[in-house]
Amino acid sequence: MLNQPILSNHDLRDEIKAYWSLRAETFDSQPGHEIFSEDERSAWHALLRKHLGDGTGKAALDLACGTAVVSHLLDDLSFKVTGMDWSEAMLERARAKAKKRGRQIRFLMGDAERTMEDDNSYDVITNRHLVWTLVDPVACFREWHRVLKPSGRLLIIDGDFVNPSLVSRLAKKLSALLVKVGFGGSGQQNGPHTPALAQTHQNILSRVHFSQGARAEAVVELLKQAGFDKITVDTRLGAIHRSQRKNFSFLKGLERATQHRYAICAQKHG
Ligand SMILES: C[S@@+](CC[C@H](N)C(=O)[O-])C[C@H]1O[C@@H](n2cnc3c(N)ncnc32)[C@H](O)[C@@H]1O
Repeated sequence: MLNQPILSNHDLRDEIKAYWSLRAETFDSQPGHEIFSEDERSAWHALLRKHLGDGTGKAALDLACGTAVVSHLLDDLSFKVTGMDWSEAMLERARAKAKKRGRQIRFLMGDAERTMEDDNSYDVITNRHLVWTLVDPVACFREWHRVLKPSGRLLIIDGDFVNPSLVSRLAKKLSALLVKVGFGGSGQQNGPHTPALAQTHQNILSRVHFSQGARAEAVVELLKQAGFDKITVDTRLGAIHRSQRKNFSFLKGLERATQHRYAICAQKHG
């Protein structure tokens, strides 16, 4: 007899939503999430411009927008931006930030896997740090393909946070050792900041599609299955990592810079 409750996908999605809602309060105080220097802002602008071009006259949907960091970058580049997230706690902060900065960004509560948006309605879809946590990526990519206009572009910014490189592993171990022997603090971090949240994170990660890590090549394969073409993988994110490094301890910065992080740009047929 089963003594464990059987969790449906719906339960897992609810857990993901609840997890991020708990992270909302501190999200913007963590480097790697909110932007803390003009150097970093410029580096992000350059990445978005390189793949999406100028935003004038173009509608952008920033999925899983969280506190709207990427939505603001798109707004800076003149896109007409809609930010969507399913966590009300994240959206509350996103709305407050846009109001404070006087930005006309529209926010919707919704599921990135079922946006409820019209066919062919956006020129651009973006998401940062969403794909690694998707329950059904192919269905989701099909949904994004449906919502994009012909020739519309998708930009995924993500990484494999499960399989660290050798340098990354060594940096992490050394960092933990230094903290243990009392040399320096743990530095700024951007992960779950309590043991209970870390446990929840692990629990969720073990059940999502990319539980073994979201490698760019695997994401590309699924994008092709969903009908995208002209797919490029950009791992030249050095300018962003260098600018973020100032806000991390040396080892934490090294760990991040040596992770498999990427931007994938894909297009819908014209
Ligand atoms: C790591 S945060 C990233 C936030 C933002 N994209 C950024 O980079 O600053 C992940 C966000 O994804 C949202 N999220 C996860 N799965 C989602 C889904 N299926 N639909 C909508 N939002 C989702 C969470 O609520 C959370 O705000």
